[in-house]
Amino acid sequence: MKELKKTTWRSPSNIALVKYWGKKSGVQIPANPSISFTLENCYSETTVSLLEKEKKGKDIELRFYFDGKANMAFQLKMLKFFESIRKDFPLLNEYGLLIHSTNSFPHSSGIASSASAMSALAISLCDLQQQLGNKKLSDEKFLHRASHFARLGSGSAARSVYPLISQWGKTSTVRGSSDEFAIPFEKNLHKIFQTYQNTILIASSAEKKVSSRVGHSLMKTNPFAKTRYAQAEKNLKEIIGALKTGDLEKFGAITEEEAMTLHALMMCSTPSFVLMSPSTLAMIDRIRNYREETKLPVYFTLDAGPNIHLLYPKDVSKQVSGFVAAELTELCENGRMILDKVGKGPKKIK
Ligand code: DP6
Repeated sequence: MKELKKTTWRSPSNIALVKYWGKKSGVQIPANPSISFTLENCYSETTVSLLEKEKKGKDIELRFYFDGKANMAFQLKMLKFFESIRKDFPLLNEYGLLIHSTNSFPHSSGIASSASAMSALAISLCDLQQQLGNKKLSDEKFLHRASHFARLGSGSAARSVYPLISQWGKTSTVRGSSDEFAIPFEKNLHKIFQTYQNTILIASSAEKKVSSRVGHSLMKTNPFAKTRYAQAEKNLKEIIGALKTGDLEKFGAITEEEAMTLHALMMCSTPSFVLMSPSTLAMIDRIRNYREETKLPVYFTLDAGPNIHLLYPKDVSKQVSGFVAAELTELCENGRMILDKVGKGPKKIK
């Protein structure tokens, strides 16, 4: 089939500091505001090619390859997503689509890939649709639009389209904030956080025990939901203060509280899930002891899984890598970890 146009985007994963956990009624509307660091080394790279359609008619024509191999499971998910956004993207009706995607991180590393994958896909579609039309959006509007459609694919993906740090979810604390799309936040970020480090310690690479979609839905009956949403608002306000002033202690206290709350919420959901592993707990213990002994600002956060995201300023990297080698590597599955840091955001690949 003749290729008529194509684009390639690399888009990163992100790690939430204040977590999105729970949805309001509506389409992908978060129950509380969240904020995240954009990562650098964990990313998806997606090429979308537009082909001549094989058949005239209403069906969306899509072939999807992950790591060079046809992937039916992802293709079906993507088709469902495309059906839901086709009125906004005429190209989905007019062309056949060939999509190739890869991740920089191993599939079985327990790193959530929906944020990077859905943001790379949404940006690529927005880019192609813009190329086909005759209206060029400002960079700001383009990224709002990309974030909006990334959100419809996966909520946390909305936050992956900006450099360094991004906020999503309507809150009186942040002017211009929205439930529909994330907004950039880098102007508010103290210098120390602009080069912040994130070492991802792989406690287990096993498949997730519960999908995010199911996890979010369990908040509907969680007895602590109301308190949690109020806590998230408060934590967002406070962490923004710390992110502006460079208050590492406050930053770390809130980050760890958010991680522990996320897991506590899952433990007291019905049905209940324990997503930490014994090594996660052992690592948390060692990190807290190390901090107590050295007074170095080394804190952790967690995703909806067992892996630890160690967060620390660049100027203590040397000490921290010594600590990791001496005390944490042995707790990682096959000694596996990924060195990452706060990153520059999506990039078009020429
Ligand atoms: C724990 O964005 O994966 O990582 O919107 O259903 O795709 P869906 O969920 P998803 O949820 C992410 C949850 C989290 C916290 C966060 O990233 O804020």
